[in-house]
Amino acid sequence: MSQLSSLITPYLTQDGLTIDNPATGERLGIVRDYGPEDLQEIVAQANDALPNWAGLTAKERAAHLHRWLALILHHRDELANIVTAESGKPKAEALGEVAYGASFIEWFAEEGKRAYGDVIPHHAAGKRILTIKQPIGVCAAITPWNFPIAMITRKAGPALAAGCPMIVKPAEATPLSALALEALAHEAGIPRAVFRVIATTRPAELGEAICAHSDIRKLSFTGSTPIGKLLAKQCADTVKKLSLELGGNAPFIVFDDADIDAAIDGAIASKFRNAGQTCVCANRFLVQESVHDQFVEKLRARVAAFRVGDGAKENIDIGPLINERAVTGVADLVDEAIAMGASALIGGARSAQGPAFFEPTILTGVTASMGVANKEIFGPVAPIISFKDEAEAVAIANDTPFGLAAYFYARDMARIWRVMEGLEYGMVGVNDGIISTEVAPFGGIKESGLGREGSRYGLDEYLEMKYCLLGGLS
Ligand code: SIN
Repeated sequence: MSQLSSLITPYLTQDGLTIDNPATGERLGIVRDYGPEDLQEIVAQANDALPNWAGLTAKERAAHLHRWLALILHHRDELANIVTAESGKPKAEALGEVAYGASFIEWFAEEGKRAYGDVIPHHAAGKRILTIKQPIGVCAAITPWNFPIAMITRKAGPALAAGCPMIVKPAEATPLSALALEALAHEAGIPRAVFRVIATTRPAELGEAICAHSDIRKLSFTGSTPIGKLLAKQCADTVKKLSLELGGNAPFIVFDDADIDAAIDGAIASKFRNAGQTCVCANRFLVQESVHDQFVEKLRARVAAFRVGDGAKENIDIGPLINERAVTGVADLVDEAIAMGASALIGGARSAQGPAFFEPTILTGVTASMGVANKEIFGPVAPIISFKDEAEAVAIANDTPFGLAAYFYARDMARIWRVMEGLEYGMVGVNDGIISTEVAPFGGIKESGLGREGSRYGLDEYLEMKYCLLGGLS
């Protein structure tokens, strides 16, 4: 068992959920396994804590969140080591994730103070109309392994700021980051019943129990579209408020008027962040015929320079995927594309670094009918599709049930507006490959999700609006 961090030592047990390092296979620890049988008591405690937490002023809740933020930043290196060990993410990216995660606590600590209502001009003499915003109640979050800190703080930050207790079920692969966050939250004075992490070996059963519980008034989920659809069905009986941040199939379009070097920088950032394991990663590159060869050659040179290995070592660009099963999924997509006529310009196979590694890959000659162009790859593979004109590019980009993120590079202002408006996506990056920030409303449309996270809109997801009519005022 590793001595990763004293933050997680109190959570380590002999039996329960085991956590292994995907880069080395090393056993990192075993933590308590919560199940549906534990949920009743945990929700009851959260419900009991609700009046006191919601009864604090927004400024008092902000003080708790600022103390949590300070502790997260103080322990940033330790937290990043945990993230790297359990998710495989290179240490520099893990440090970036801790900062990104902390930014949601900082943002919502302040945004909670601005949960304004309205006074609406009245419709009849002697009456007045107003709205107030109130915490929705006990909330739950089901979070993924690819951002084991930031996807928790992006949900817990607004929940706590709004006055709601939050129960988090982290991914089975990455509970240690979540538990370290919990340790710091409690050290910051946030009551145990107000922020609680429940790791499990039985995600389907615990997830179903969360959905069925009538005292949990809101569920926020980040993960795959099939699981999001299942959770939405399971939440129907209790008419729970839902935020769903689901799968994507992001197009990255390079037009003939683009700054190609800028597009290469954006492509590297967008495609290869976290070894291609983000839901907003560029999933398919659409490159206009006249700049295709230039773009592909420049991309090849950059990808060839990647250092692949254990993210805990110095200067690693690409770590392992989360597990061997993920590698098999990526390998199957690549093999199928090659069998259908694509060529691997670089990479194209499992990496000699270990069973959870896949080589950074560029596929050329890809067509829209290949799985690699219409399924979420979640790996370091860049498929290139060539197109003739703007209308064709937008049509290919929109021909998907997903609608999370899209990117394009162009300089002509009229084209920029046309394409930005024409893309059927919840988020569009124009001449930039990184769109994630706490100040912007992250979220998808179509089968990529419901609701927004971050920004002022992210707070509304944890608030109910109450309309009040005051009569007899004449
Ligand atoms: C995700 O992959 O789910 C989130 C990515 C991000 O916040 O940038």
